[in-house]
Amino acid sequence: MVDLKTTYMGLELRNPVIVASSGLTGNTEGVKKAEGAGAGAVVLKSIFEEQIEAEVGQITAESWMPGHAEAFDYVRGMGYALTPIKYLDLVSQTRDAVSIPVIASLNCVSSKWWTDYAEKIERAGAHCLELNISVMPSDPKRTSKDIEKIYYDIVESVRSRVKIPIAVKLGSYFTALGHTAGELVKRGADALVLFNRFYTLDVDIEKIELTAGYPFSSSGDMGRTLRWVALLAGRAEVDIAASTGIHDASDVVKMILAGASAIEMASALYTKGMEHIETVLGGLQKWMDKHGFSSLDEFRGKLSREHADNPELYERLQYIKAIVGVE
Ligand SMILES: Cc1cc2nc3c(=O)[nH]c(=O)nc-3n(C[C@H](O)[C@H](O)[C@H](O)COP(=O)(O)O)c2cc1C
Repeated sequence: MVDLKTTYMGLELRNPVIVASSGLTGNTEGVKKAEGAGAGAVVLKSIFEEQIEAEVGQITAESWMPGHAEAFDYVRGMGYALTPIKYLDLVSQTRDAVSIPVIASLNCVSSKWWTDYAEKIERAGAHCLELNISVMPSDPKRTSKDIEKIYYDIVESVRSRVKIPIAVKLGSYFTALGHTAGELVKRGADALVLFNRFYTLDVDIEKIELTAGYPFSSSGDMGRTLRWVALLAGRAEVDIAASTGIHDASDVVKMILAGASAIEMASALYTKGMEHIETVLGGLQKWMDKHGFSSLDEFRGKLSREHADNPELYERLQYIKAIVGVE
């Protein structure tokens, strides 16, 4: 008998397939659908720092209290204490509607006063909180150290306000991700979600203007995630959820072999429907049967760098003719 249970940030999930933060999890219906299709957990659509600010930001320092910045911060704090209420409703309603874990998601680009909002999310009943932190490293005046500090401050600030587990969802633009991962853990991250796939740009060459790029990934996009899950699993002392390019059962197997505790899926469910989760779980079970594994722990991390016979393979960045065999 094959057992698909996994533990992620101390929570027991019935299987490792988590529906990633997206429009699919932006309302109670979507979350119920995910549970019905067999998901192990859901990450709710993110509430964006800008949204919190926008609702409160109707009040501006200049219009309300010129020259009284501290008082303004206080009033603004009261403003956001009442808003955005809808997201808190989503958290509590989904928590009541399903029995799988509900992970709330906060998108952050700074560690400002709004991090108090995390406390409200905890009170609304979220089992965990995923911090979707994304700072664009394009400002020539900002060093990598400055940017990393923003990440650390956010995690520290939220950690000081909530007791529920915190996952930090990162993009892959880091100079020294091995070090950064360890620092995030030191500041209280219970899990890392590697990696977010950001909104992409394209160009309409007829209208000569910017447009949105294709929003979905394909299986071919999972290479960077696979490498970093394998590099960090067991070394960063943190649970890892793999994200980006996980489309079918074989992708899930690969990520667990690399050491993931769970995987997050969005594009495959947009393109194939939520029912695709059943197919993925069926395929995972079949593979485990075939290879004689009865639980995920029996093969988790088997191909992580930590357990590798040839760790240098994970660090190799350049093509070598003899290895790749395509030149
Ligand atoms: C339409 C859409 C909306 C998304 N919205 C969010 C979001 O609100 N918060 C977030 O952290 N990630 C968001 N994501 C990113 C996904 O959670 C996921 O990390 C990314 O799509 C990579 O996984 P995939 O290859 O399975 O799609 C969104 C993705 C898509 C396609």
